[in-house]
This record gives sequence, structure tokens and C-alpha cells, in this order.
Amino acid sequence: WQLQAPLIHAINTLKKEMNAVILAHNYMTPEIFHGVGDYVGDSLGLAREAAKSDAQIIVQGGVHFMAETSKILAPEKTVLIPDLRAGCSLASSLTGEQVRLIKQRYPGLPVVTYVNTTADVKAETDICCTSANAVQVVEHIAAEWGVDSVILIPDQFLAKNVARQTDIKIIAWAGACEVHERFNAEDIAEVRAAHPGVVVLAHPECPPEVIAASDFTGSTTAMSDYVTHNKPKQVVLITECSMSDNVTSDAPGVEFLRPCNLCPHMKRITLQGIYDSLRFHQYEVEVDPALIPRAALAVQRMIDMPP
Ligand code: 13P
Ligand code: SF4
Repeated sequence: WQLQAPLIHAINTLKKEMNAVILAHNYMTPEIFHGVGDYVGDSLGLAREAAKSDAQIIVQGGVHFMAETSKILAPEKTVLIPDLRAGCSLASSLTGEQVRLIKQRYPGLPVVTYVNTTADVKAETDICCTSANAVQVVEHIAAEWGVDSVILIPDQFLAKNVARQTDIKIIAWAGACEVHERFNAEDIAEVRAAHPGVVVLAHPECPPEVIAASDFTGSTTAMSDYVTHNKPKQVVLITECSMSDNVTSDAPGVEFLRPCNLCPHMKRITLQGIYDSLRFHQYEVEVDPALIPRAALAVQRMIDMPP
């Protein structure tokens, strides 16, 4: 990625002139992640940065729901996304109208939604969660409301994986991540057979059989921290491919094995796209002002939760 040095330099110069920051998700390619990202991390980390950044412009190195979350938390700032088509199969699996129907069906139960949702879904939500804190959020809101069941939507696999770690009954939805749903337990059996001793880390959006066959599960940042702290000899990250490419420079001596899958939405964000985004002020992410206060409350409640 160092071959991209002139473009990286141009972006870093422009962003200083414009008082802009680039929030880059762990699935960005290495030239974005290492070359121009001011803050890099998982969905929770990026949301926290958006809330406290004092830059005037945020360029989201990530997908549309992440840019919307930034706008919800910092409505006075300009939020740019280099490609408006960078969606997410989870975010497109659920609408605000559907959440209203679910609430009618289960009156009195709190609604927890994954941050991988649109602003109209967040506006119908009591508290958001990410892969970093889903169990903690579910238990927190159940205790606060004095209930033993919680609606956790839209990711069916995250819901099942959370249900295994808590006594709270989880009411789920049928959404799935198109990247993580493709992994199966055979992938893990094959890699273990070929590389005895390999450490297997899997993202909680994977099916439960994959999580059961893994050694560790956690958010993208939790997986990255696991590798840099424990420095296993061989590791496989059951998630998006750029994760391994990005962690490798902080984990010398660790061998990263495959499989991995690409997220086509994340890969729409390119270095050239980020440059054009700053240069031509494109594409501005807007959220209906009527939705912002309620959506912000749901995200802020998550951010304010005790660690
Ligand atoms: P993290 O919050 O773990 O970074 O996950 C976001 C995501 O989109 C995973 O597919
Ligand atoms: Fe959405 Fe899955 Fe891509 Fe993450 S990896 S942005 S959950 S489609």
C-alpha cells in the first residue's frame, strides 16, 4: 500500500486544510486503514469518535449505516461518504415500520437494535448495541425494565450467539450479514485439520455452529486486540479479509491463514473515492431531522453505558 504514497499524502494534506477527520472501520483496505485513517476501529469505537470529534467534516471510511450514526451523533457536522452505494445486508433487512409492528406484537418489551440499521430503525429503538457489547446491553436493559425477554434485531445469528451467553429470552429477526453467514463449521474443521494448533477467531455475526467451533469470538477490534496481545503462531480470522491485512503489521511473527470473505459494500470505499470525497465535498449524508433526537438517544444510551 506504500505505493499509494502520493495519493495518501494528498488526502492527509487536504484533510488538515479542511478540518476533516477520517473514521476508518477495521474492514477498510490497508492503504486507507494505515495511510489516512485518523481513527480506526469497530462500530462502537467509530461511533464514540464521531460523538467527541471536534473536526468540522467527518469522512466515513465505512458503510452507510456508520455514516448515518456519525450524523445522528454529530448533526452539526458535515458527514461525507465516498460512495453512497456502500450498504449492508443487515441494515437493509429491517425498516422502522417493521419495528413498530414488532413492538405491537410484544408490548412492554425493550427493543435493542444492532447499530447495523438505518436511522428510522434507530428512532424506534430503546437502546442500540454493537458486536462489542450486545450481551451487556441486553442484560442492562432487561434489568432496567424489569423484564426477562428482550427484542434483539435484526441479526438472527448475533441474537442466537447472545442467547447462548445470557438467561434473558431473546426475540429475534431474520436478518443476516451476507459476509459472515457464508462461513460454516466445515471451513473451521478444514483449517484445523490442515494446521493443527491454529487459533480460530470468529465474528459474532457468524452462524452459531461457527462460533461453537471457534476459540474466541468478539467485535472486529476485540479480534484484533486478541491477536496483538496473545501473538498466536497461526491464526485465522473468520470475518472480512481486510482484517488480517490490517492486523498483520502490528503482529509480527503471526501467520494469518484463510478463509475470509470480502464485504462488497466496504470495498466500495477506495483511496481515490476518499480523495474525491474531500476534494468535491461528496457525498453528504443527511438524516431526517425529525428522526435524529430519538435515534441519538438510542445510540447515546449505548455509548453512556458503564464499561
Ligand atoms: P464491528 O462492530 O465488530 O466492527 O462489526 C461491524 C460489521 O459490520 C461487521 O460485519
Ligand atoms: Fe454489513 Fe456484513 Fe458488510 Fe458488515 S460485513 S457491513 S454486517 S454486509
